[in-house]
Amino acid sequence: MILVTGATGNVGGQVVRQLHAAGESVRALARTPGKGAFPEGVEEVVGDLADPASLEGAFNGVDAVFLLWPLFSAETAPAVLKAAARHTERVVYLSSTGVDDTVLEQGDPINDFHARIERLLAESGLRWTAVRGGGFAANDLGWAEQVRQGATSIATPFPDAVRAVVHEGDLAAAAVHVLTAPDGGRRHDGRKYPLTGPERLSDAERIAIIGEAVGRPIRAEPMPLEQARAELIAGGLPQEYADGILGAVQEEFAAPGPSEEVRTIQALTGEAPRTYRQWVADHLADFRP
Ligand SMILES: NC(=O)c1ccc[n+]([C@@H]2O[C@H](COP(=O)([O-])OP(=O)(O)OC[C@H]3O[C@@H](n4cnc5c(N)ncnc54)[C@H](OP(=O)(O)O)[C@@H]3O)[C@@H](O)[C@H]2O)c1
Repeated sequence: MILVTGATGNVGGQVVRQLHAAGESVRALARTPGKGAFPEGVEEVVGDLADPASLEGAFNGVDAVFLLWPLFSAETAPAVLKAAARHTERVVYLSSTGVDDTVLEQGDPINDFHARIERLLAESGLRWTAVRGGGFAANDLGWAEQVRQGATSIATPFPDAVRAVVHEGDLAAAAVHVLTAPDGGRRHDGRKYPLTGPERLSDAERIAIIGEAVGRPIRAEPMPLEQARAELIAGGLPQEYADGILGAVQEEFAAPGPSEEVRTIQALTGEAPRTYRQWVADHLADFRP
């Protein structure tokens, strides 16, 4: 039995479906019962990562956990991992390519909590693997409402910033590969896998691809940084998180990551990671009125 956290979200939802399709027994963690619409046969369990005591039942009897950390702080992570270690042997953690292994304090609070959870895992006695995601293609769903409303231009703080955004289905496929590997996945123990998409595309290029898919030209226009920051904060992000996200894009723009990262998904799963066009095709319903 494998427990999947974040099961109603982008990556966790795919992990649930792919594990189920592979014939694994799956338990899906949800805060709100009935929200996930999981495939038949998937066991739903209610629990909250902010309340470690609520997770004992969820961890009980599972062989492995797909762990995703959706909270703004790692405050409850030590207790969550202690609860996990009481019941299970192994965790595959969705981390971030932004974690810098050469420093203790990361430059922003998001990579800071990912680095902290990786360290906690290393000290937990659990067997663990980190699947470190690069920028998610799913972040571009933030443009979907404007596209549905007929926009012909979309404002973005860094129109020329280039990222190899990754399909949530490929992040999930890599995690599922590790979770279901023969011999309990021992060869993945303690490994940190950077997972990115196959092509570097700027915001402007990705916006143009969405335009092609919906059948009208859409161009990118620059958004003042202060406005981008205000929009992220209005969307519910704490100020330091908004700064962290904008800073990370700026940094990646200035110094793109190593190109070998794009081959990790293929090395793990045997399949080339999906292109951005494929991601847009998979999400066409989100972009069409
Ligand atoms: N976006 C990026 O570019 C990027 C890059 C690298 C790493 N990451 C990491 O990826 C993770 C987000 O993944 P995602 O995009 O798949 O998530 P998502 O679609 O935003 O979904 C979040 C999931 O977490 C669940 N959740 C929220 N609060 C919870 C709580 N207190 N207890 C238990 N479950 C809770 C949500 O369930 P409910 O239905 O209950 O809300 C939902 O299933 C984060 O850790 C992020 O730092 C993101």
